[in-house]
Amino acid sequence: MENRPPHLERVRAPPSAGDVNPIGTARTLVSCDVRTAFKMGIARLREADVPSFTLAAELLLLHALGRNRTWLYAHPEEIIAEGDAQRYFDLIARRAAGEPTQYLTGKQEFWELEFEVTPDVLIPRPETEHVIEVALDRLALRELRAGRPQKSAGQGLQIADIGTGSGCIAIALATELPAANFYATDISPAALAVAQRNAQRHAVADRIHFLESNLLYAVPAGAQQAAPQRGKIPNSASRVDLLQSPITSHQSPLFDLVASNPPYIGRREGPSLPREVRDHEPHAALFGGEEGYELYADLITQSAQHLKPGGILVLELGHNGLPAVQPLLETPHWTSVGVTNDLAGIPRVLAAERL
Ligand SMILES: C[S@@+](CC[C@H](N)C(=O)[O-])C[C@H]1O[C@@H](n2cnc3c(N)ncnc32)[C@H](O)[C@@H]1O
Repeated sequence: MENRPPHLERVRAPPSAGDVNPIGTARTLVSCDVRTAFKMGIARLREADVPSFTLAAELLLLHALGRNRTWLYAHPEEIIAEGDAQRYFDLIARRAAGEPTQYLTGKQEFWELEFEVTPDVLIPRPETEHVIEVALDRLALRELRAGRPQKSAGQGLQIADIGTGSGCIAIALATELPAANFYATDISPAALAVAQRNAQRHAVADRIHFLESNLLYAVPAGAQQAAPQRGKIPNSASRVDLLQSPITSHQSPLFDLVASNPPYIGRREGPSLPREVRDHEPHAALFGGEEGYELYADLITQSAQHLKPGGILVLELGHNGLPAVQPLLETPHWTSVGVTNDLAGIPRVLAAERL
């Protein structure tokens, strides 16, 4: 028997040359205890300049072991099975190479709900929770003004989430408003498939109609709007022409609330993004155009067409989006324009009411 530290245990014959995992231990030679694996993972991620490296190593270890935190800290000396150790060190290597932790574990929490995430969808961000807060506050205020109880289950409400991605906005609102109905659109069919699974996971799928659509273009909103192109996704060259038609009086508005976190990063900012974002999150979810705010004009015009009088628009903004987007609401269609800052003091949510 070789003289090994107690936390390492021989489980296989020595590996062949080159059969070494990326953190420098023999790929199939040893298994190790929980504490050692955790420390090795932390060291590798720190060396690779991974942000929040301790948390990332912990989440990946929990994921590889299929355990929770309580178990992890109660069993530091438990020997990890070879397969689990292999899976963990593979995940550590992928995280060190830039893959976001959430794509490796396949999940992210949002509004205290767990969402499946894949590389087809943006990882939900904490700042998007302000969209939910503003939407719920504005709906409650509307109820109050109408003399109804402020806290409602959303009976009769029709809500749209544009660019739904993982479905986090529609699904969070659906759990808060258990009697409301939803449209959730995305230009990406792959994202919609993830959103649909998330809706099933949270038992709200029967109230959310998922629709592949360029913004609200394929959302039906009255007979006069059933244009021949409805349901198709125009290419980017034709999109602006198709969506910027003036609002006409014969259209039938549909929604009480339109919420959206559209892509808002400028392509010119691409090179300065963290590699986790630039190289792994879907570009259709990130980039709104060269400057970043290009989609808002169409989105606001479309929303005005689809909102009832008194309907509410809630939009997430990029870190420098306010000066470009707020003026788009300075038209006779909108009133009660308000801006909400995020926890970092950045103007993050723009809301308005349809006149
Ligand atoms: C910033 S992500 C937001 C995802 C999710 N709502 C969230 O908050 O995490 C933007 C989403 O809009 C979708 N998207 C991009 N362009 C679109 C368009 N023209 N019409 C509809 N959806 C679009 C992307 O596929 C992506 O899922």
